[in-house]
Amino acid sequence: MEQCCKKGTLPANLYQELDNFIDSLSIKKDDPRRKGFLIQVLHRAQHIFGYLPEELQVYIAKKLFIHHSEVSGVISFYNYFTTLPKGKYQISVCMGTACYVKGAQKVLDEFERILKIKPGEVTSDMKFSIDALRCVGACGLAPVVQVNGKVYGRVTPQQVQGIIDEYAKGE
Ligand code: FES
Repeated sequence: MEQCCKKGTLPANLYQELDNFIDSLSIKKDDPRRKGFLIQVLHRAQHIFGYLPEELQVYIAKKLFIHHSEVSGVISFYNYFTTLPKGKYQISVCMGTACYVKGAQKVLDEFERILKIKPGEVTSDMKFSIDALRCVGACGLAPVVQVNGKVYGRVTPQQVQGIIDEYAKGE
């Protein structure tokens, strides 16, 4: 397969994994299906890299022979795709009404204070990221926190350090 497209600062082995996937699709410049492949490729790219930063968007656009704006348009349309890096442990604090009323803001504040990051950010060691979510459907347990999908219910600010330690300890 001929070499195409400048790779940026992200790990070369991850680019290689993405290349293998895209190359397996055998997309040609005049292939009418190439835009149809875009979502599939973005899913795979996010799975491999964890997020879809600008340099990766440009790379994918070139590999699929489409314009960068089409790639960024699809990414901003679907909530699933993210352009920000996530931590190894993704902390999600529900900020839906029931959780908010039961003190979710104080819980979120405590995560921010201890980890020194805001929602949407990741710690410098890439271990933790925080997101504030809408109702996750477990209002009876409000306020609710999830870490990589594991649910913690009726969380108090005093429990936040313990939740972080649970994951930090395993490192
Ligand atoms: S509002 Fe938090 S789970 Fe529903």
